[in-house]
Formats: sequence, C-alpha cells, structure tokens
Amino acid sequence: MSNASERRVKIVEVGPRDGLQNEKLPVPLNAKVELINQLSGAGLRFIEAASFVSPKWVPQMAGSAEVMALIDRSPGVRYSALTPNLQGLEAALTARCDEVAVFGAASETFSQRNINCSIAQSLDRFRPVVQKALEAGVPVRGYVSCVLGCPYEGDVAAEAVLQVAQELLAMGCHEISLGDTIGRGSPESTRKLLEVCLRDLPSARLAGHFHDTYGMAEANVCASLEMGLRIFDSSVAGLGGCPYAQGASGNLATEKLIHALHAMGYETGVDMSRVQAAGRYIRQVLGDLHDQQEVPH
Ligand code: HMG
Ligand code: MG
Repeated sequence: MSNASERRVKIVEVGPRDGLQNEKLPVPLNAKVELINQLSGAGLRFIEAASFVSPKWVPQMAGSAEVMALIDRSPGVRYSALTPNLQGLEAALTARCDEVAVFGAASETFSQRNINCSIAQSLDRFRPVVQKALEAGVPVRGYVSCVLGCPYEGDVAAEAVLQVAQELLAMGCHEISLGDTIGRGSPESTRKLLEVCLRDLPSARLAGHFHDTYGMAEANVCASLEMGLRIFDSSVAGLGGCPYAQGASGNLATEKLIHALHAMGYETGVDMSRVQAAGRYIRQVLGDLHDQQEVPH
C-alpha cells in the first residue's frame, strides 16, 4: 500500500443498534450506556448508538432517547441513529445525535416488510428527512439493504442497488452503506456488485456492511478492500441481525474486523484489547439476561 490514506480504514460500530435491536429480552438502559462508553473508550469514532423507529416494530430500541441522554459524549466521536421518517428525525435532533441514517433496500419485499412501504415511497419519505437534517447541520448516512440477496426474493440485481445508492447520494447522504443483510455474499458476488457500483460512484462514498451468517464477512471485506473501499461497519462481539430478515445472524464482529485489518497492515485507530473487553462485557450482560429467563428444573 502506497500512502497513509490508503492504509487508513474507517470503522462504523453498529453493535449498540444493529447488534442489540435483535435481542429478544430487554437490555437494561445502563448496560447500553456502559457498552457505548466502552466502545468510545476503545477509540471507535463512529458509533451507531440509537434507532428512532416505531417501538411497536422494534421494541428493543424504545429507550433510544434515554441512551443518547446518558452516554458520555467523547470528543471527536460521532454518535448516530437510524431515522426512518420525519418523526424519527425530530426525536434524533432532540436527542442531539451527531449524525442520522435513513435506511432503504434494493428489494421491494424487504422494503415492505422492514419499513412498510415500497422502495419509491421510501425514497420520497427520506428526501425531507435528509433535507431537514442537513438544514440542522446533521450529516446523513444512507443504507441499502439486501445488496447481495434478499430473504424473500433471493437474488438482487446490482443495478437495483446502484439505483437506490445513487438516489440516496443525490438527496444529500454523504456515505452509502451497502448491507449484505442476510450474509449471503461471497467475495465473487461482492466484487461483481462493486464493479457495477464503482462505475458510477466513488469508492470513498461506499461502506461495506457484512453479516457473518455463513462466515464469509471477512472474505467479503478483503474483496471490498481490493476494490478500493475503506469504510466498514461491524458490531462488537458479532451481535446482531435484523428482525425483518429471518435467519440473518450477527454482523461481522468488530474484533474480527480489526484483527484482520491490523494483520494486513491497515490502521484503524482502535485499541483491540479494549474492544475485546467491551465484547466480554456485553456477552456477560446478555448471558445473565438469558440465565435469568431460564425456568429452574
Ligand atoms: P408505519 O406503521 O407504516 O408508520 O411504520 P406510520 O407512519 O403509519 O405510524 C404508525 C405508528 O407508528 C404511529 O403510532 C406512529 O406514531 C408510530 P400510533 O399512532 O399507532 O401509536 N411511528 C413512530 N414511532 C416512533 N418513532 C418513529 C415512528 N414513526 C411512526 N420514527 C415505520 C413505518 C418506518 C415507522 C416502521 O416500519 C418502522 O419503525 N420500521 C423500522 C424497522 C427497523 O428498525 N428495522 C431494523 C433496522 S434496518 C436494518 O437493520 C438493516 C441495516 O442494518 C442494514 C443491513 O443490514 O442491511 C440498516
Ligand atoms: Mg445490518
């Protein structure tokens, strides 16, 4: 690798949101706050901490305003949240989120199941969200889900991904996270997708968001690095999944991502031992919750 900027990788830690949103048992507020504080202490600079979605759809994220109010705001860290509509954006601005994210899909059925509208309707809904956020000085990230396969429709055309990504960039998103929501991707399919996307989009605007359902996430990161991507999403302890994508298991673990990147000579600015400690912490919390639920014999 020739220069420092090529060696530098941005990690977006999505564990407190993408990770915890899928937990069936309510995770205590203080545990969410402690987790986020440990993650910022580990040097993670982009932390998706909350999600202002309907609590009927995703009950686990119901306490997002409280989470945002209680975390330590580490200088230089961007604490972000999902905002599917204007109602979510208002809540995120009130909670002083540093960044928000709109989330669309490249599959019609997934869009309906996840956010209760078509792809076209979702884009119409996102436009005023992005506009208002930018007016408030808050940058917006865009997600495209199901970029390498859909739990309902199977294969997804790369052109469909490109089209949604282009629309999100055109409305003002600064970065597009390409979500392999169900972890169906391989290095080969990742390369093919990126070949199409990179014809029209700069690599600096794209992030890889891989789920590790079949253990392929790190291989897909490597394929993406070769294609020029330098932004990746991951989740501490590999927590996660999407409640509207049956079978989607955890996100790529931040620990695995950092290990792989450091081993290949990339810089992340993240302290591996402190991320591992955060991972042990949240595994212990979730383990205790599950133990408490077990009916004694
Ligand atoms: P809807 O039912 O069509 O919304 O849901 P609505 O506008 O008709 O409102 C219905 C009710 O929801 C009303 O309440 C609203 O107030 C309330 P009621 O009058 O019935 O009491 N509501 C809200 N409450 C709080 N915050 C809001 C909000 N909006 C409406 N923002 C909606 C549409 C988008 C809200 C719903 O479908 C939803 O919340 N979906 C979220 C699903 C979700 O969070 N999925 C997981 C995140 S995506 C993901 O994980 C993938 C990703 O990681 C990338 C990848 O891996 O691919 C990003
Ligand atoms: Mg995800």
